[in-house]
Amino acid sequence: MSEPYHQLLDATIQHLKDLKARGTRFVAVAPETVKALTQPVPLAGNPAAPARSLPPARPATASPVPRPITAAQTPPASLPNVATPAAPISPAPQAVPAPSSLAALTPADKTAAIENLRGRVLACVTCQHLASTRQKVVFGVGNINADLMFVGEAPGADEDRVGEPFVGAAGQLLTRIIQTMGLSRETVYIANILKCRPNTPPGTSGNRKPTPEEMNTCVPYLQEQIDLIRPKVIVALGATATEGLLNRSGISRLRGTWQAYRGIPLMPTFHPAYLLYRDDPGEKRRLWEDMLQVMEKLGMPISTKQRGYFLK
Ligand code: URA
Repeated sequence: MSEPYHQLLDATIQHLKDLKARGTRFVAVAPETVKALTQPVPLAGNPAAPARSLPPARPATASPVPRPITAAQTPPASLPNVATPAAPISPAPQAVPAPSSLAALTPADKTAAIENLRGRVLACVTCQHLASTRQKVVFGVGNINADLMFVGEAPGADEDRVGEPFVGAAGQLLTRIIQTMGLSRETVYIANILKCRPNTPPGTSGNRKPTPEEMNTCVPYLQEQIDLIRPKVIVALGATATEGLLNRSGISRLRGTWQAYRGIPLMPTFHPAYLLYRDDPGEKRRLWEDMLQVMEKLGMPISTKQRGYFLK
């Protein structure tokens, strides 16, 4: 490859090293830049030579020592876009402190810690194939002091476009379920196992299930989010959410049975998309019974009308 290319590469690497030495843990890289970096580079001087893909980015340079989250850590809002083919620094999910140390956070510190996490998640390019195809990172939405948190699988096309979880058809059903419980999207918190849309071949529609690697990469962010929000109950929507949080498969067997995620009661239930697909009153009733259990656990009032939904 050409000399100027190597000079640029060395300069970029040096710049990133300088940033790292000054304490910068991540840099924002625009999705277009990541996409461009994953394109094959023709070898200079030999147009006939096969193109070579740039090496994959190394994941982050985060400290191996778990670092407590402090409000003083600022989101990456003002960092420049820096591109390097060798080492785009991405924020590897950090190990989180024990939940008890987070319980003492003041409301302001909690808000700052969530915004710090949002900043790191929005800048994440660890899964390059997702970073280069996503339109928006879907961090999560709702009340960060919610008692109830719903966790789904991953953004679909609508969520990817809007940047908010559960806004498509399945999302509209989830919103109705939440409202039928006497709550609203604003009073609960909603997030996903994956914060980026799983990419699908160009020209195809539909979604694909996240891979184990993608889940392993992204779940630590969700874990940090849950540790900060500290809901009283988590609802895992569907098989992928249940697998991602509990590392257990078998949603038909697990649904309706109380589990625990880091000490928080967790109710696995069906994914709303499954109910749209099945359109079976029996399955709707089963999901609703799971939600009645959740309402009981949270000490919410339950009317006779609410108890009777989807009964023949
Ligand atoms: N399905 C999910 O699991 N999550 C979303 O955000 C949307 C659809």
